[in-house]
Amino acid sequence: MITKAIIGGTGVYDLGEKTEEKNITTNYGEAKVYIKEIAGQKIAFLPRHGAQHSVPPHRINFRANISALQKLGVKEILATAAVGSMNMDFPPGSLVLLDQFIDFTKARPLTFYEGEEGVIHTDMRKPYCGRLQKILLQKAATKKLELKQKGVYVCVEGPRFETEAEIKFYRHIGGDLVGMTNVPEVVLARELQMCYAAVGIVVNWCNGVVPEDISHDEIITIMKEAKEKISSLFIKVFTEHNENGAFECNCQNCLIEL
Ligand code: HPA
Repeated sequence: MITKAIIGGTGVYDLGEKTEEKNITTNYGEAKVYIKEIAGQKIAFLPRHGAQHSVPPHRINFRANISALQKLGVKEILATAAVGSMNMDFPPGSLVLLDQFIDFTKARPLTFYEGEEGVIHTDMRKPYCGRLQKILLQKAATKKLELKQKGVYVCVEGPRFETEAEIKFYRHIGGDLVGMTNVPEVVLARELQMCYAAVGIVVNWCNGVVPEDISHDEIITIMKEAKEKISSLFIKVFTEHNENGAFECNCQNCLIEL
């Protein structure tokens, strides 16, 4: 059983070392997962866009990905997500713990529960696992890594970027960050009662937020630095805590059957 998984977003395509590759067939299609052994335990790594960044956000098979992790026995997921920022406190280069999302996706399969098992709703008051969030913050502090808090993630369909008017609107309704992938990923993980937390890597200002955006070279540098920091943070979280410890989250108890 592999109980812990890392989902890598844009710029996070591997965990640095050689790993065993597994193709997992699910009811929703195939997913490729890499298994890495760290400090005597196995951790699954799933590059969300494929190992060569070949799958655009709106074509990601989120259900196959999450279902494949469940088949391995995964109970905890830590994920990265490249984001644009609309919040002046989160400039490019910031790492921000996601806390809430607002969903503007339009055309994605969004649930595992299509009615066959009855009508099931998922409590989404706090979509991210509070226990994993707490451990991430504690471990980041011990590494002297600045992990900002309370990011409200607006998920758009993509693959296009937003108009300035859209960003003005997203900002007005309380969004901090914009990305194209965290929904339905977090929702599906929660539907399978997994603990899921995600860190946003701010790679750019959203359109219209500042007069001049950063250069492509700067974005590459941000991604490279963030990848190192986040990988080592996630590995520290997974190797220094035990999921059998006291649970302080409701992730195992979030389905409501009517
Ligand atoms: N908008 C949407 N998705 C993104 C952005 C953005 O500005 N930056 C990185 N992913």
